[in-house]
Amino acid sequence: MKYVIGNWKSNQNLTESLIWIDGIHALKPKFPADIAIILCLPFTDIAAFNHKIADLNIPIITGAQDVSHLAPGKHTGEITANMLGELVSYCIVGHSERRRDFNETSQMVAEKAKLLLENSITPIVCLDLPYLDEQIKELFQNNIDVSRCFFVYEPIAAIGTGHPLDPVEANHTTNQIGFLLDNVAPVLYGGSVTADNVKSFVDQSRIDGVLVGTDSLEPTLFAGIINSLI
Ligand code: 13P
Repeated sequence: MKYVIGNWKSNQNLTESLIWIDGIHALKPKFPADIAIILCLPFTDIAAFNHKIADLNIPIITGAQDVSHLAPGKHTGEITANMLGELVSYCIVGHSERRRDFNETSQMVAEKAKLLLENSITPIVCLDLPYLDEQIKELFQNNIDVSRCFFVYEPIAAIGTGHPLDPVEANHTTNQIGFLLDNVAPVLYGGSVTADNVKSFVDQSRIDGVLVGTDSLEPTLFAGIINSLI
């Protein structure tokens, strides 16, 4: 199985997210059976988005982009894994933008992964070379079952720049990540993935799929990525 995961980041309000579904529905991408399509949405979009894709029978699985590292309780404003459990099957944790803008640590990411797994949500753990070893060590120290997680190698220099990593180089690092995890979990690549280059990543021996930011926002571009893999 290969995976195409979209990450809308802090884009698309509720109305825009429903218009996006209309766009995908009109384009009718083929949705190959051996490729799972997962879309990680802003919290505010998820419930209505779920209803609409179910009504239109669109085979997209929904995810969130973050979760609280705290259990339910007196934490004003936090969205807990328990809340997300009713809404999504996947959740991104440890994106470099959260490390940069919100000072997230590898310890917090491990705590988030633990709470997600307790609520039957698959953590999608983002990694880059400066903290790759530290993050994986932290997961093991917190007794996280890494076979129930996804991992994404996202080199910061390739995110949102239009300069993707060379696929062979990306494969080298995803292979290293897989080795550190005893090859029990999918390892994906993320960073400036487009319809034109997606196949060159997914065809690599140790890249199990892609995490797409910018080109997941436009239905035509996202459908183009899916269609490129048929
Ligand atoms: P871009 O596809 O815009 O480079 O974003 C990658 C990313 O950060 C996905 O999480």
